[in-house]
Amino acid sequence: MTDWQPELYARYGDERLQPVLDLLARVPLDRPARIVDLGCGAGASTEPLVRRWPEAEVLGLDTSPAMLAAARKKLPGVAFVEADLAVWEPEAPVDLIFANAVLQWVPDLERVLPRLMGLLASGGVLAVQMPRNLEEPSHALMRRIAAEPAFADRLAKASASRPGLPPAETFYDWLCPHAADVQVWLTTYHHPLADAAAIVEMVSSTGLKPYLDALPPPLAADYRARYTAAVAEAYPPRADGRVLFRFPRLFLVARR
Ligand SMILES: C[S@@+](CC[C@H](N)C(=O)[O-])C[C@H]1O[C@@H](n2cnc3c(N)ncnc32)[C@H](O)[C@@H]1O
Repeated sequence: MTDWQPELYARYGDERLQPVLDLLARVPLDRPARIVDLGCGAGASTEPLVRRWPEAEVLGLDTSPAMLAAARKKLPGVAFVEADLAVWEPEAPVDLIFANAVLQWVPDLERVLPRLMGLLASGGVLAVQMPRNLEEPSHALMRRIAAEPAFADRLAKASASRPGLPPAETFYDWLCPHAADVQVWLTTYHHPLADAAAIVEMVSSTGLKPYLDALPPPLAADYRARYTAAVAEAYPPRADGRVLFRFPRLFLVARR
């Protein structure tokens, strides 16, 4: 996948911020001294952490140079580092590891989640939010259109680029041996958006990106047009003329 596009990702900032705030509200810590925002992106998830705990030492970590550049500009007082969360090691145990909308891209969570728990100080918290939308029309249609003869050869890899998530109960079972307490819940957001094109624009910086990146520009335009038409059918206008973009998300809060 080519690098992330911070400006495009930020365009649906309110819709993307709500789960950050909902996750943060469930973090049972008064004064964490050391906080790490894994997959911090352009700093949209880091900012509420800094606001809630201005005294804490906060580190943002991401693999994307473009996202990190935007984060450094947004929060000049915060330390940001380019690193892969799957192998990164902190210098000292961490009180809060926050991972919003990143772990869905990371393979082998059965191994990665216990590893992250092991990086926490005693009583520390791992707080995670992951989109659970691969079976929603928005994402099922990406795969359906990718399988059409015009695109199939080039898009087989894109359709497999994000692993599916197991059920909430499985995450509970993975975390329990490493945690004193585990909370798991699902929230399905229903974002009112202007129209189908807005849904396409919102996913174009995330789930749709591997498909568009894998095609030469004229074919990418065809794919996007086919996809937009299918999305318009799947998300008809509501009573006010807008569409409702269903967006299920899985949350985990585990205390060591
Ligand atoms: C959807 S964005 C979320 C950004 C931020 N947490 C937020 O809520 O605005 C996902 C971010 O995770 C980063 N990312 C993906 N895989 C990663 C990995 N293995 N290690 C660190 N960052 C990763 C991407 O570069 C991207 O910036």
